[in-house]
Amino acid sequence: MTSLSFTQTLSDIVGQAFEAEGLPASLGHVQVSDRPDLAQFQCNGALPAKKYSDKNPREIATGVAAHLEGNPIFESVTLAGPGFINLILTDAYIADQAELFAVDQSCGAWFNPEPQKIVLDFGGANVAKPLHVGHLRAAIIGESLKRIMRSVGDDVVGDTHLGDWGKQMGQLIVQLAKEQPNLPYFDEANTGPYPDESPVTMEDLQTLYPASAQACRDDPAFNDAARKATAELQAGRAGYRALWQHFVAVSRKSLQAGYDALGVEFDLWKGESDADPFIKPLEELLKSKELLVESDGAQVVHVARDTDKKEIPPLIIYSRDGSVLYGTTDLGTIMDRLESNAPDRMIYVVDQRQAQHFEQVFRVADLAGLMPEDKLEHIGFGTMNGSDGKPFKTREGGTLKLQDLIEMVETRAAERLQESERLNADIDQAERDDIARKIGMAALKFADLSNPRTSDYIFDLDRFLAFEGKTGPYLLYAAVRIASVLDKAGAKPGDETAEIVITDSSERDLVLALSQYADALKGAYEKRLPHILCDHAYGVAQAFSKFYANVRISDEPDKKARASRIALAFTARKQLVCALGLMGIDVPKRM
Ligand code: ARG
Repeated sequence: MTSLSFTQTLSDIVGQAFEAEGLPASLGHVQVSDRPDLAQFQCNGALPAKKYSDKNPREIATGVAAHLEGNPIFESVTLAGPGFINLILTDAYIADQAELFAVDQSCGAWFNPEPQKIVLDFGGANVAKPLHVGHLRAAIIGESLKRIMRSVGDDVVGDTHLGDWGKQMGQLIVQLAKEQPNLPYFDEANTGPYPDESPVTMEDLQTLYPASAQACRDDPAFNDAARKATAELQAGRAGYRALWQHFVAVSRKSLQAGYDALGVEFDLWKGESDADPFIKPLEELLKSKELLVESDGAQVVHVARDTDKKEIPPLIIYSRDGSVLYGTTDLGTIMDRLESNAPDRMIYVVDQRQAQHFEQVFRVADLAGLMPEDKLEHIGFGTMNGSDGKPFKTREGGTLKLQDLIEMVETRAAERLQESERLNADIDQAERDDIARKIGMAALKFADLSNPRTSDYIFDLDRFLAFEGKTGPYLLYAAVRIASVLDKAGAKPGDETAEIVITDSSERDLVLALSQYADALKGAYEKRLPHILCDHAYGVAQAFSKFYANVRISDEPDKKARASRIALAFTARKQLVCALGLMGIDVPKRM
């Protein structure tokens, strides 16, 4: 079977030519040319080949090229520099491939030859705290990686890993006890049953939490009480558990609404607290391996290595007052996931600033024989910053709530749409709102995903919302425009099976752009870098735009050329919509 990826097919062909020269086939790796003015594809394998041969790279390349010259798929095979092999395909071959693309269900996608079972930990929200801008990247990148992984064939379980078990829980309890001491949850003699109705709303939690955090900082007695309450909650004190359940339920409802607005979905809403039944077994395991040691009254595991370039402190399993910490619940959660999901890997999409935490946890998991370190991945990301280069804040210097951010983006998108006078008068208000919402989401998500994951970026709404340039709205506009071109031409499903003819360089370039989908998907998947897919989608949109400017479609008099162009437009539209879908971006019907 020929692959739909040109680079894959060409790598096989050139690999065979290397083999015929007595060299490893892997040297035949072909990539898209760095110099599109000189060639479509290139192979640089003759340079490293000198390791295996006493010929110089130029001679090796000459030998390899001789095997390729007879192949009818090549328009030209030429050498450049010290031994680069430049390749140009015939239009006939490009057209044949385009026909395969046009009817391919997956639009020429890549599939993982060894599908993995993955638990994807992303989102990272916490009880009693509303989603804020800091949660945006975890949600957007996590959702996109989940979709990419699923699309290549992996079996992915997405889990929020709700922060519901740390000291914040004790803080909230103590703060509420201070404000409403008569609630039944605080009386140790009262073991329930307790009221079904929550004593607090999400709004209450949002004031309780910062008040408790402040109290911890200002008042050592409060801080001690919060620690003690946390330990008691974890030990199972009935009133605290009942109250905590209300905190979790109320928070979860509000968080769910936030994730819904973002189009982000989890298969599991487990939390740190779900690790609780695994903490004892974890302790026993660590003891049996003689890993658990006392340090300053706490129980820790040493994870530093001689080869470490910077100091990696021990991971604390139990604090001095006996509470479990963030790392402890993460280890318990690994045990839970092994038992419940039996994944090949666990992947954590969490802020880069937690890199050391994951390093510690993964090392302990490895030392304890739970899971080898190389099956545990921390996929870190940089922060979204304000124009001052610091993590994004509101004008007043506070943390911007995600809901407010979304509202701001959608409002601005609606204004932009209004100003641009793009929409037909016959589009009613409900549809306008839907279009503005989709443009806003596309702007936000594409700006985030197209930025290389590990870098920070600056929130610049006007740039994100621009209809021109590398933006979400531009890509939406491209996808919608293709649909309207097809509409105007009266195209119908089935038209994509037409014979493809290449009559103009813009048609050739469009097919070449589309053919890079498999490589982009593979790169985005293997490196966990969605921006590779964003770059690809942008390339396709640009290639289509040139194609649209260069050739006639609906009003093309030549029947064969017209049908071919319609089929190409179909294919471009399908692939663009697929790629946007993998970014979590929905395309409106019109805009
Ligand atoms: N709730 C955590 C936070 O706000 C993020 C959780 C990430 N996942 C994990 N398994 N630790 O920082």
